[in-house]
Amino acid sequence: MVIVPSPDVIGAEIQDVDLAQPLSDAEFSRIDAAFNKHAVLNFRNQQLDEPQLIAFARRFGEVERIFLTHYAHPKYPEIMFVSNIKENGQDIGHADAGRVWHTDMSYTARPPRATMLYALEVPVEGGVALGDTLFSSAADAHDALSPEDRQRIAKLRAVHQVAGRRARTGTGQEDQALRYQQPAVVHPVVRTHPYTGRKCLYVSKGECEGIEGMPKDEALALIDKLADHTIDPKFRHIHRWRVRDLLMWDNCTVQHLASLDYEWPSHRRLMHRITVDGTIPT
Ligand code: OGA
Ligand code: MN
Repeated sequence: MVIVPSPDVIGAEIQDVDLAQPLSDAEFSRIDAAFNKHAVLNFRNQQLDEPQLIAFARRFGEVERIFLTHYAHPKYPEIMFVSNIKENGQDIGHADAGRVWHTDMSYTARPPRATMLYALEVPVEGGVALGDTLFSSAADAHDALSPEDRQRIAKLRAVHQVAGRRARTGTGQEDQALRYQQPAVVHPVVRTHPYTGRKCLYVSKGECEGIEGMPKDEALALIDKLADHTIDPKFRHIHRWRVRDLLMWDNCTVQHLASLDYEWPSHRRLMHRITVDGTIPT
């Protein structure tokens, strides 16, 4: 197994490993350490059926139940379809996941540690893959703040609400109904990574509605400023997909965004998505 870091502040490719086979504890430890260090890992050319994908995810922790149940795999409820494919006029999966910068399920009390996407179909135009996924390091963004700014935000807590001011996903009615059932939650503006101890900015424009004890206008201005800083191109890593990539990211260290630059029916995109339980943000 070879770990090849990307030239960016985050991201690495893990080569010469077959995730369809059970991993030894030593191999898994190397992957786990690389995941904590690089925050976005890609494994190319994997041949994974559903039980193999679930088994790999389980090495990192409990696998989460899916709350958008209408997009769940009919046989494997741990897996959700992220896809723009329509069958009989209906989306078979979540068609616009990641429309704005975000970190997964920050609007829940215990957001997932990791999200995995396994690419089964990747849209291509003129030989170039479409639908890149962009990542930004919220840890490097935090570290780049001035000492004064770091001190000013260190103890703040933000209100996250999925159906919030600029709801990021879910144009479908079923989506909206499920999303509105999620009550608002409060998380620290600066999270401490549960494994590395690094401090990470944890606010986004799409989902943060306010800051505890701060007037709304001032809070939204601060959230926007921190959110814009978090996605500065210098903290960025872009994943260009190939079929049979298994990509995973750390929902504390990075934020992400989907490029929705492809269109049904000329382009088809199909991913199997699975999330691993996380810890309560502190
Ligand atoms: C997600 C997500 C981005 C993509 O599945 O959580 O944001 O490129 N996906 O599909
Ligand atoms: Mn996402």
